[in-house]
Amino acid sequence: MASSSDYFIDIVSDPSTPMLGDIPHFPYNELKTATKYWNKDNKVGEGGFGTVYKCEWKNTTIAVKKLKVRRSNKPEETLNQCQRDQLLRELKYLNSCRHKNILPLDGICFEHPKYCLIYRYMEHGSLEKKLSRKEPSLCWEHRLHIAKGAASGIQFLHAKEPPAIHGDIKSANILLNEHMDPVIGDFGLTREGPIEKTHIIVSRPLECVHLHMMKIRHQNNISKIL
Ligand SMILES: Nc1ncnc2c1ncn2[C@@H]1O[C@H](COP(=O)(O)OP(=O)(O)O)[C@@H](O)[C@H]1O
Ligand SMILES: [Mg+2]
Repeated sequence: MASSSDYFIDIVSDPSTPMLGDIPHFPYNELKTATKYWNKDNKVGEGGFGTVYKCEWKNTTIAVKKLKVRRSNKPEETLNQCQRDQLLRELKYLNSCRHKNILPLDGICFEHPKYCLIYRYMEHGSLEKKLSRKEPSLCWEHRLHIAKGAASGIQFLHAKEPPAIHGDIKSANILLNEHMDPVIGDFGLTREGPIEKTHIIVSRPLECVHLHMMKIRHQNNISKIL
């Protein structure tokens, strides 16, 4: 497998890039083949930052988040500043937070302008999907187990020094493995919290709200939220 440093073209030259250690690099072409050319049948989820595909990789099932690349201010197609910051935050926290209720990051693929994050696949998908399905509904035993696990993951983040504030805890970002154990994912909006204060107020970066609104407008759904 190629060394990840062979592929960092712009991100790695950024002084704010966290230590990437030995995170394995997955070649883009192999991910493309494994997901059957990003086939919609392999798609398991989508957020504002990326589209997530399930695939087999060397006898292991993995989840690949393919980042949505939009045009930035630069003439070439690449990540804009907001996406770049999200990527760096996700890398920094997922790589440094090892806990049974935090989604493990298994690898990266940086082949400018294509960027993917590779995670352990969570068999039961997001809590949001589980709650939206009528049958079978989640039993109370599982609900309690999920609530406790998610709280334990959040407590782990808040107990770090300095504390890590996830900033986007919601059912779509809580994933469930084959045993219905919850893990917290999507660290794109995570930030360092103050050490002394007991609470802080956080808000999303304006540009991300703008991108979200653009997406809704693109889908012609604006009337639904007005
Ligand atoms: N490791 C995973 N296993 C299974 N499904 C996943 C995994 N990671 C993400 N997903 C699905 O993809 C959706 C979007 O993932 P997420 O990381 O939140 O993307 P974004 O950063 O774009 O919001 C999740 O709500 C979930 O349904
Ligand atoms: Mg998300």
